[in-house]
Amino acid sequence: MKIGEDLIQKVAQMPQADLGHFPTPLEECPRLSEVLGGPRIFMKREDCSGLAFGGNKVRQLTFTLGDAVAQGADTIVHGAASQSNHCRQAAAACGKLGLNCYLRLARDHKSIIQGNLLLDNLAGVDIEIVDVPFGPELDIVKYELAEKLKAEGLKPYVVASPRSTALAAVAFTWCIAEIAQQQQQLGIDADWIYTASVGGTQAGLVLGTKTLEMKMKPFGIAPIVWEKKHERLRTAANSAAEFLGLDTRVVDADIQNTDDYIGQAYGYLTPECIDALKLVAKTEGIFLDPVYTAKAMACLIDHIQQGKFGRDEIVIFLHTGGTPALFAYHEELSADL
Ligand SMILES: Cc1ncc(COP(=O)(O)O)c(C=O)c1O
Repeated sequence: MKIGEDLIQKVAQMPQADLGHFPTPLEECPRLSEVLGGPRIFMKREDCSGLAFGGNKVRQLTFTLGDAVAQGADTIVHGAASQSNHCRQAAAACGKLGLNCYLRLARDHKSIIQGNLLLDNLAGVDIEIVDVPFGPELDIVKYELAEKLKAEGLKPYVVASPRSTALAAVAFTWCIAEIAQQQQQLGIDADWIYTASVGGTQAGLVLGTKTLEMKMKPFGIAPIVWEKKHERLRTAANSAAEFLGLDTRVVDADIQNTDDYIGQAYGYLTPECIDALKLVAKTEGIFLDPVYTAKAMACLIDHIQQGKFGRDEIVIFLHTGGTPALFAYHEELSADL
């Protein structure tokens, strides 16, 4: 049996919506490695997941919206930061599945009709920018709206933690099984997988690598400071393990995640992330996004410069997408042009 096949069979039993183009490619970035002086860098292209400019949320929504449809929902209520990639991909997915979609987006410094917010509008979903911060207070707004929609006869499903994060972890456990098979085809056995995450993506990578007893260790780069992040990630991973009927359990010691590359705050660029974004575009023709993946790449570059890896070690960089946000940051990104 192919490596990871058992895990893929377990994932296949979860309710799913057919949204993306999977498996996403795993490809080498030789020019980037050369400029940085090693290690071998491969990129897992979740930015090429198909729907609405791609990104890691397509794989996650495969299960979240699969869950919604299985529960008989006809309406999705979602919300996050105003340039949310998750909301953009949810808006597109709802269009594809014929679901109503309501987005409640937290007003912030990027509540401009550009990037993801432009795409949300073009997808024709119901959008309101609200004056509450992204987090638990926004969840209250979402649940209140869901009650109102229920009273109007709709069947709403609210996308919110912890369930949505646990289903996202299922998605990235599946991604690990996919990577295990791709590694086998390529004849490689990576040492590390780096990604921008402090949520379901990293939780799934940790659960998947532990379940398959892989050499590869996940390393997460947080885009935002979350209180109790180890507890959240562990809980999401272990809920995903329960959904999938796995015996594996994740403990805090399995989770490596840094806040060191966030800079001023979520959604504000750092000079290092701008440099990383330009370097990857120039050497590989691949665009990172300014809020998540460029900060993660800045971390990987920093770790390379600190001598963390041998030249022959292999690092997979999981590109989680987010590229439409580039256009909402055109001023910061073009300041030196
Ligand atoms: C481009 C991009 N990368 C990474 C993440 C983080 O994903 P997770 O919430 O699974 O940690 C997000 C989530 O918003 C994202 O949009």
